[in-house]
Amino acid sequence: MSSEIPAPTEPTTDAAAEAADQHDPTAAPVERPKTTGLHVGDAKPGVAKVDPIIVADGVRRTFGGLTAVDVEHLEIPRGAITALIGPNGAGKTTLFNLLTGFDKPNEGTWTFDGKSLSGVPAFKVARLGQVRTFQLTKALGLLTVLENMKLGATGQRGERFWSSLIPALWRKQDAKIEARAMGLLAKFKLDAKAPDFAASLSGGQRKLLEMARALMSEPKLVMLDEPMAGVNPALTQSLLDHILDLKDEGMTVLFVEHDMHMVRHIADWVIVMAEGKVVAEGDPYSVMRDPAVIDAYLGAHQELDLGVVTGRVTAEEADPTTDAAASTSVDADELASAGTAEAEAEFAPDTEEKKK
Ligand SMILES: Nc1ncnc2c1ncn2[C@@H]1O[C@H](COP(=O)(O)OP(=O)(O)OP(=O)(O)O)[C@@H](O)[C@H]1O
Ligand SMILES: [Mg+2]
Repeated sequence: MSSEIPAPTEPTTDAAAEAADQHDPTAAPVERPKTTGLHVGDAKPGVAKVDPIIVADGVRRTFGGLTAVDVEHLEIPRGAITALIGPNGAGKTTLFNLLTGFDKPNEGTWTFDGKSLSGVPAFKVARLGQVRTFQLTKALGLLTVLENMKLGATGQRGERFWSSLIPALWRKQDAKIEARAMGLLAKFKLDAKAPDFAASLSGGQRKLLEMARALMSEPKLVMLDEPMAGVNPALTQSLLDHILDLKDEGMTVLFVEHDMHMVRHIADWVIVMAEGKVVAEGDPYSVMRDPAVIDAYLGAHQELDLGVVTGRVTAEEADPTTDAAASTSVDADELASAGTAEAEAEFAPDTEEKKK
């Protein structure tokens, strides 16, 4: 949730540079084609995928008396962007933790790219090509941006005993890793920050650093837990573009997000969780019209584009399935305080911050 990240008090020069660089209000967002034909048969919870990268069965995790995750069957489609949505406490982060080896389930099995991952620790999962970012950014503040990036590289020779005794070997590799790190930092417009401590970055820049670091290991699957939370609106469009780029570069993306505008805009497939279970699946347009989903999660304001309500996008950029005119006339604060759904507050993190 956005509340975990301090309000971005960015140096004004940076904020201005970001705004000028990333957010040209006159530029229409470039629509990129959605990937379709991902599933087999009816789009219902647990539906088979044509080419799944993750297949999970009977994955259950309890905390005391509470069942946080209880997923009967789940397949994540390869080469597409899948959004995992659901109310607070639905079990999304817990499922991420289980699939990536950061937590162990009470029961259940799952495969990644055809290999069983049950009981495989997180660092090995990452080496196999499945990386994740955290809801709370984990950039190490007292390391420089470049050092953070280098930590993302896997299988470094210097880590191995015998080759670590031959400096020529690891020096050569270190230079290669540094070149890759600088290339990625440039792509994320963080190269000028390479020598700075990660602690000096804004919330949004730390999110970008985390994503860039995840890419150091050349993953097949990138899992992002609330990539937009706490991100300055000036950076959101560039973040969306980076995620779309991952797909264009052949990676699979699974992300958790409360921002429905983002989900509609970039997801090819949506999985809805509630109380630990998968309650709906489908393409973004059908899922968001599903009465069960609306009841459980979206509240009564389905016709609104919350990106427009919160000022993140203009009425012209509104999702065509929403009522742009109605969205512009809604006051985000009133909507958030209407109490129709707790989720509403989630949709307006920037407004919350402005009120303080
Ligand atoms: N380590 C833990 N110990 C005890 N309970 C936990 C733990 N981790 C998660 N839970 C509980 O499990 C449930 C699922 O939590 P989880 O963080 O997975 O939800 P989420 O869908 O990611 O929610 P949010 O949208 O708020 O991030 C919640 O009720 C939470 O309180
Ligand atoms: Mg979570």
